Amino acid sequence: AMPTQSGVPAAAAVASADERGIPLQIVFGSQTGTAEWLSEQTETLARTHGFDPVRCDLDSLDITALSAARRLLVITSTYGEGDMPDNAELFWRALAAPDAPRLDGLFYGVLGLGDSIYDGFCQAGKNIDTRLAELGATRVVDRVDCDVDFEEPADAWIRQAVAALAAVDADTPMSGVATPGASEPAVIPKPESSPEPATSPDQASGARRAKPKWTRKNPYPATIVANSLLSAPESDKEVRHLVISLGDSGIAYQPGDGISISPVNDAQLVERIIERLGVSPDVMITDRRTERTLRDTLTHHVEISTPSKYLVDYIAQRSQDAELTHLTSTGDREALDAWLWGKDVLDLLDVDPALTITPEELLAELRPLQHRVYSISSSPVAHAGTVHITMATVRYRSGERQRGGVCSTYLADRRPEGTQVEVFISANKSFRLPADDTKIIMIGPGTGIAPFRSFLHERAARGARGGNWLFFGDRHRDHDHIYAEEIDGFVTDGLLDRLDLAFSRDQEHKIYVQDRMREQGADLFAWLSDGAHLYVCGDATRMAHDVDTALHDIIAEHGGMSAEAAQDHVDDLKRAKRYLRDVY
Ligand code: 2AM
Repeated sequence: AMPTQSGVPAAAAVASADERGIPLQIVFGSQTGTAEWLSEQTETLARTHGFDPVRCDLDSLDITALSAARRLLVITSTYGEGDMPDNAELFWRALAAPDAPRLDGLFYGVLGLGDSIYDGFCQAGKNIDTRLAELGATRVVDRVDCDVDFEEPADAWIRQAVAALAAVDADTPMSGVATPGASEPAVIPKPESSPEPATSPDQASGARRAKPKWTRKNPYPATIVANSLLSAPESDKEVRHLVISLGDSGIAYQPGDGISISPVNDAQLVERIIERLGVSPDVMITDRRTERTLRDTLTHHVEISTPSKYLVDYIAQRSQDAELTHLTSTGDREALDAWLWGKDVLDLLDVDPALTITPEELLAELRPLQHRVYSISSSPVAHAGTVHITMATVRYRSGERQRGGVCSTYLADRRPEGTQVEVFISANKSFRLPADDTKIIMIGPGTGIAPFRSFLHERAARGARGGNWLFFGDRHRDHDHIYAEEIDGFVTDGLLDRLDLAFSRDQEHKIYVQDRMREQGADLFAWLSDGAHLYVCGDATRMAHDVDTALHDIIAEHGGMSAEAAQDHVDDLKRAKRYLRDVY
């Protein structure tokens, strides 16, 4: 199969018997690139154990060929409140179907990635794991459900999974799991491979290609060189443009990638929590074997804005607050979420002013502070040495206090020019530009424009000749038409062939990007028929869903198809990696 530019196999890839090593199929379902990255780590480690792995995303897997693959490792994230990630939907539909093939000869393991703040925590992984077993496949390693702090458990699972598969004799029919030591483990190191010890995937990959130096565990201290308002001061939204210098870090990225930024919590909130605990800010706390002051721990290491489920349960059990106790005991998640909206850790502690809690007790219920990922809006060619981000600052009032997004207010209010931020690149290999002569349609209202600004600058700098069509929108043209001059310049230069704008609140009725798509349906269908790739970036809950519906309708109408045929057509676009989304 011809690899596409992103390196994803264009057609189904299933491991075949190969005298060079033991066949192993590794598949990932990724929304932001983490599962894909872990699948690469798995592939690298498997090679050092005598496997000859084949790796692709779940949607590229042909399930009728699965039982022949014999060994399967699945690494998948979950999208939203428990759905399959974009590149696993078609696979799941086939696997869940009543007529799905039996998988009796297959040995497998599943690693789930998720965020325990959501109800459907790791649901995609759970569903795939359950269904594979139902179809007769043999689980050789227990599923691990990783929370946001995934690195250590994922690393441990990868090592276990590879070792477990090495210990099964999957090539003798109906052999089952070999008892340890009963038969020769089926590990035949490749003759040409260097005898590497079974170390962590991180180390293993280092032996083969340059390991990225700046990672989640070792972020790069980058200097902010610009931090300015993009939206008009009168706008009811605050959208900012940040330029971050990559200095001599050697950090490289591609259009479509994200940048992760480690935030620092608001000092005032930290102080108020310490006051509430009634202890000194300098009391020493041991957190994961590291000693730090309470203030340092609350400032840099735990989430204090969005309370964890554990803290909510803890407070409900220990406090005398009838409302909260009722909400947590009925299991009415929606009512609880409504109650929790806008509440931070301090609000929860204040539910019951009589409740005493020690710093250790509190910290045991808090989640580690997470970096936030922003889609990069610059091009590495056009803006060498820098990363631009396009960020909406989240601000709202709740109770008596002004609140805000942890990272967005940190960047907006406390990171002026000349200050530093800790960053690393979050690659998103499934969201890449196609070949230079391929047309692209980009749908990115609000800050969803970010990767498309990157795409356009990149294409301009490379002299790419493929057509470009942008759909952009926001509330008001006068206030929210960000990057207007640049975009007009792209139109004047002929880079941008088509530009459709949707300002939702400039007239009595709402006009959204999907309304513009429908108006231009005939041309949009013509572009797709001409091989265009279609990209969507921005709000997942409403916009991406409505854009998806519009796309189905347009294909049905202008392609003269039934709803089912249009659905198949969209599935084909997904399978061909021509319908790609970066939505959140
Ligand atoms: P609104 O807030 O006026 O409803 C960026 O946030 C833009 O996306 C705004 O113009 C917003 O409009 C719009 N938007 C809100 N809901 C949307 C939806 N379901 N589909 C597309 N755009 C939407």
